[in-house]
Amino acid sequence: MSAAKHPLVGIIMGSDSDWPVLRSAAQTLKDFGVAYEAKVLSAHRTPDAALDYASSAAGRGIKVLIGAAGGAAHLAGVLAAKTQLPVLAVPMPSKHLQGLDSLLAMVQMPAGIPVATFAIGEAGAVNSALFAVSMLALGDAGLAQKLTDFRTRQTEKVLAKTLADLP
Ligand code: RP5
Repeated sequence: MSAAKHPLVGIIMGSDSDWPVLRSAAQTLKDFGVAYEAKVLSAHRTPDAALDYASSAAGRGIKVLIGAAGGAAHLAGVLAAKTQLPVLAVPMPSKHLQGLDSLLAMVQMPAGIPVATFAIGEAGAVNSALFAVSMLALGDAGLAQKLTDFRTRQTEKVLAKTLADLP
């Protein structure tokens, strides 16, 4: 799956079972008009394809990678090992440990090959996309303005909230 323009962000997930969570990253990029591609590639089920993707991404014009996986979640680290592009790691909620395993696997990268790790689940998916937008906005004034507008709308929405009276 990909947005129409030349993709700047690669969203890579270990399984299609991650997509229900990851699609909020894709939706966020779409909302900002940032072209992306989304693929299933696994560090352990399709290791050669995952390595090929990471090593060719920069040459194809990709600027940022989002790597999402659950459980023994080494996908983001494996991608980072084969590219100098920034890799944003999103821990997927897992069946037995609710994503704490994924979080710890991602956040404990040894020194030398960094990944930036986000919150478990949907908040992490959305924030990884917003972070990608922030990085791309450094060289794109139009995108920076969209980010400013997004923050303004978000602030206004929160300030407009009212709380129901107690029964
Ligand atoms: C990881 O294993 C995937 O990223 C997914 O979160 C988890 C479970 O995958 P499936 O068994 O649902 O394909 O590699």
